[in-house]
Amino acid sequence: MTLKKIIIGNWKMNPVTLDEAKAILRPVKRTAQNLRRTSVVVAPPFPFLIPLVLSLRQSKVRFGVQDIFWENEGAHTGAVSAAMAAAAGARYAILGHSERRAIGETDEMIGKKLNLALRAGMTPVLCIGEKEHDGQGNYLADLKGQMRASLGALPRKMLGSIVIAYEPVWAIGRSADMAMKPDELEAMAIFIRKTLADSYGEDGRNVPVLYGGSVSVENAADIVSRGRVDGLLIGRESLVAENFNVILRAIDGA
Ligand code: PGA
Repeated sequence: MTLKKIIIGNWKMNPVTLDEAKAILRPVKRTAQNLRRTSVVVAPPFPFLIPLVLSLRQSKVRFGVQDIFWENEGAHTGAVSAAMAAAAGARYAILGHSERRAIGETDEMIGKKLNLALRAGMTPVLCIGEKEHDGQGNYLADLKGQMRASLGALPRKMLGSIVIAYEPVWAIGRSADMAMKPDELEAMAIFIRKTLADSYGEDGRNVPVLYGGSVSVENAADIVSRGRVDGLLIGRESLVAENFNVILRAIDGA
């Protein structure tokens, strides 16, 4: 059985209006209808989630959120829980994105979020990534640490419900030529799968590993096929429907 590739659009804090959000999604919805081997997920800002879910009923596009809080309820001003996100229509939760780690999110918080996302029936997309790709390979220990600390005591039976997004921080939000090169990515994907297999046995190798960081029309298909990853987490280009569609079709046909 060939698993479907997963392409997630992380809109971050964009676009500014709901009308713009709908305008991006309309053509993406049409493209998604014709894809056979690719799952499309869009993670808009929270306030747009419900109206977009309602406007896209009967569509193959799935929705995600870009974060959730590490408790399920209570006095947490401004926070949104996993259960709330799931009730609003999110099936995926991006967790531990480097832009959130940069404002103080720890592996411990991410681990709690991961468990709550699973309990709410969502698929957590655990983001990991090194700040620097130093020549000594110290980043490997960082990545292992991030995985072990945030997966914590994840029961083996839940392994089939998570996704890892490998996003080297130095490659995020740059130009296409700054993305990680496919041969280097292949080695990193092997390392991530091996780390999971060391903790969970061979099932660990089946966890989908996505790549994120300056994915564009020019490099997307090559990154997936030669980098041997199971999909992509795309920031900037997911906001340009035309480009996102080109990427979706390229991955589906690859
Ligand atoms: P980018 O963002 O595609 O704009 O580099 C990726 C991400 O941060 O998820």
